[in-house]
Amino acid sequence: MIKTDILIIGSGIAGLFFALKTAQKRPDLSIVIMTKGSAERTNTQMAQGGIAVVTDLVNDSFEKHIEDTLQSGGGHCDENIVNMVIRQAPQRLKELIALGTSFDKNQEGNWDLGLEGGHSHNRILHHKDSSGLEIEQSLLRSLENMPNIHLLEHHLVIDLNTEKRDETVCSGAFYYDQSNNQIKYINSRTIVLCTGGSGQIFENTTNPEIATGDGVAMAERLGLEIEDMQYIQFHPTALYAGEKNPFFLISEAVRGFGAHVVNKDEKRFLFKYDSRGELATRDIVSQGISMEMQQSQTDHVYLDCRHLDKTAFYKHFPVITAHCNKLGLYPEKDLIPIVPAAHYQCGGIKVDENGATKIKNLYAIGECSRTGLHGKNRLASNSLLEAIVFAHQASENICNTIKEFPFSIKVFVPQLPFAKIKTECEKTNALKKELQNIMTTFYTNEDSDINNIKAKVERIKNATVAMINRSEIILPVIELSNMITTAQIVIKQCTIERKNTTDFLFN
Ligand code: SIN
Repeated sequence: MIKTDILIIGSGIAGLFFALKTAQKRPDLSIVIMTKGSAERTNTQMAQGGIAVVTDLVNDSFEKHIEDTLQSGGGHCDENIVNMVIRQAPQRLKELIALGTSFDKNQEGNWDLGLEGGHSHNRILHHKDSSGLEIEQSLLRSLENMPNIHLLEHHLVIDLNTEKRDETVCSGAFYYDQSNNQIKYINSRTIVLCTGGSGQIFENTTNPEIATGDGVAMAERLGLEIEDMQYIQFHPTALYAGEKNPFFLISEAVRGFGAHVVNKDEKRFLFKYDSRGELATRDIVSQGISMEMQQSQTDHVYLDCRHLDKTAFYKHFPVITAHCNKLGLYPEKDLIPIVPAAHYQCGGIKVDENGATKIKNLYAIGECSRTGLHGKNRLASNSLLEAIVFAHQASENICNTIKEFPFSIKVFVPQLPFAKIKTECEKTNALKKELQNIMTTFYTNEDSDINNIKAKVERIKNATVAMINRSEIILPVIELSNMITTAQIVIKQCTIERKNTTDFLFN
């Protein structure tokens, strides 16, 4: 059994930024980061757009960013949290830059601030169209210089362990070490969930295959509050060509750069739904596209970039253009087929302003958490921002409180130390596809028969439990089990929401 002062689960921006800040402040603490794949295989590294921060206090203001966030959140944000995150943003940005992340500047040497849907001003700092990759790589580089951080790749945390002291505390975690096919236990004084989202519960998603709701499912098994899971954000412009799971994302920044959304007759239609047209918030744009597809009986619409300056476009969006070109699509002359796809989980594990859950030494940061920043619909490029602000908050809080949480003296031995490697991978894949299909039908069709949906998910769950009972505790089965738990939460919370509102699709 290994032990550590702080266990971080997940290696995206939330986990890495938290680890680095904490290690700098408290070199006396041991920190372990466990990640189920290789370190850079995160949703963070897929983020194209960037990070929303008010840096131009002449033309922009914190108040405007706050107002845009609240408006996008549809009256469901926590205003104190919105204020805290947006006012803290410049300080956290400075720290991110000090850790080696670079953001683009214009010819005058000022930040090249991008515009995205729902923002009243250009305020997105970005690194071309691969901002997440730049952040992920720079944080991983910084990690190499921190002797008190141990990064364990291919270590999948299966479940958290709690024990009753004066109150319930989290005392460690069972994990699957894929390098030697063993299930082991780690004893920890504090645990921080940074496990990301759950887009993979849908068949049409921009999220990579690691986004299986692991943190939410573990928290649910501990009886923690999970909130706002009915608010799954659909990104309006996933590329409808090539791979369909995950769909390749065409950044919101492309519309901010001036691209139009057009129907099969090459006509713009989004002004019917909002005076901001293409630059309305994601919920409105996705809903508008979905209506247009229904009315015209088509399975996609188009992004029209043909009127934009080709050189500037290719310079700003090298990853997107290279991907399109590979598929034989040339934005300067071709319409780009697009469709809305599940992109972001606005809800998650309920936490306070420090990222703390109801279990005092268990924290959640990033997409797996529900902080109150996003409300019903996250404002574009507020997610990386939320991750660094809550990483800071949690880090400060943990550094001050960790002395209250000694190591458990109990020794836990996993009942099944060795996982069987013989697995039913084909069966797991089939069940996963079935779940994704059911969830897509359920989420995009308000009239779906809820009892039928629930029964189908229950059947998939029973088949998965049977595999687990045969000790086939391998990664795809655990992921599938977490996806099922997360899907059941989404179904439950959506059903309550649908009873209370007539206007739900895409929030
Ligand atoms: C995008 O580039 O459109 C994604 C950024 C985000 O999800 O906020």
